[in-house]
Amino acid sequence: MSSVFVTRRIPEEGVTVLKTAGHDVTVSEKDGVLTRDELLAALKAKPYDAVLCLLTDKIDGDVFDAAPSVKMFANYAVGFDNVAIDEAKKRGIVVTNTPDVLTDTVAEHTIALMLAITSRIAEGDRFTRAGKYEGWAPLMLLGTDVKGKTLGLLGAGRIGQRVAAIAHHGLGMSVIYYDIKQNPDIEKSCDAEFHPTIEEILKKADVVTVHVPLLDATRGLINAERLGMMKKTAYLVNTARGPIVDEAALVGALKNNVIKGAALDVYEKEPSLAPGLSALENVVITPHIASASIETRAAMAEVAAHSIVDYFAGAQVQHRVA
Ligand code: DGY
Repeated sequence: MSSVFVTRRIPEEGVTVLKTAGHDVTVSEKDGVLTRDELLAALKAKPYDAVLCLLTDKIDGDVFDAAPSVKMFANYAVGFDNVAIDEAKKRGIVVTNTPDVLTDTVAEHTIALMLAITSRIAEGDRFTRAGKYEGWAPLMLLGTDVKGKTLGLLGAGRIGQRVAAIAHHGLGMSVIYYDIKQNPDIEKSCDAEFHPTIEEILKKADVVTVHVPLLDATRGLINAERLGMMKKTAYLVNTARGPIVDEAALVGALKNNVIKGAALDVYEKEPSLAPGLSALENVVITPHIASASIETRAAMAEVAAHSIVDYFAGAQVQHRVA
């Protein structure tokens, strides 16, 4: 039996997997993200064998030092930029993530955000609730069709590919994409056209969706200069990680009509928003909920828990990132 610390309440399915396998599970009682000090104190409280952590937990050398008995961290997210992977590798600590199970849900949220901004859904909702709707009018809140338009993917991994499939087959968009390597699957399934530079995507796309991981190389990737390369009529959608987009530059671009609109689920300094962002009409903002369906959050909990169970059973651990 191993001792597992879960840093915040997660769907019960994950805890059940751990307990059924005979593990001793402690779930943080705090209704919120543990502060740095709280996390370190919680890990020092007991010689845990594994931690099921969240993307809001910064897992670095200090955490590893505070919890020398912990052999693995199962990150409850597909993204793992919150974990110091090189340091974990150096120390022989196993790290896992939860890919696949959230692909459809995140892709659907990306499409929902795209349609929300192009059809002015959130703006129309605010307008109607504010009692401003005085009757049908030919020129009221005109949006933009996506059919026949070009979707530009930055990153054609699992989520990007699913977004492309819905956009192409469901909405009649043509797809262009940038990735570090060409992807024959998306070319075959969605007639997608590869472009070897981000700039080409930005110049040609009517809607740009971001699906790259947060790395040193992608931090601030969409900056003022690159926003300036987009069409004035184009939209930017980000459901990947906030720091990939320079949010202050985006606020400037939206204010000055450099681009037409944006839809974001993630932010540079979550949970804070860049000054001025929430006051803009031409942006749709959701609180990092792209994977937040009941089914998917339960599946993520199960995947993370199974990784821990497999590790301590001596079985092959899937989704290892360190
Ligand atoms: C992830 O899994 O990385 C997502 O951001 C969670 O919603």
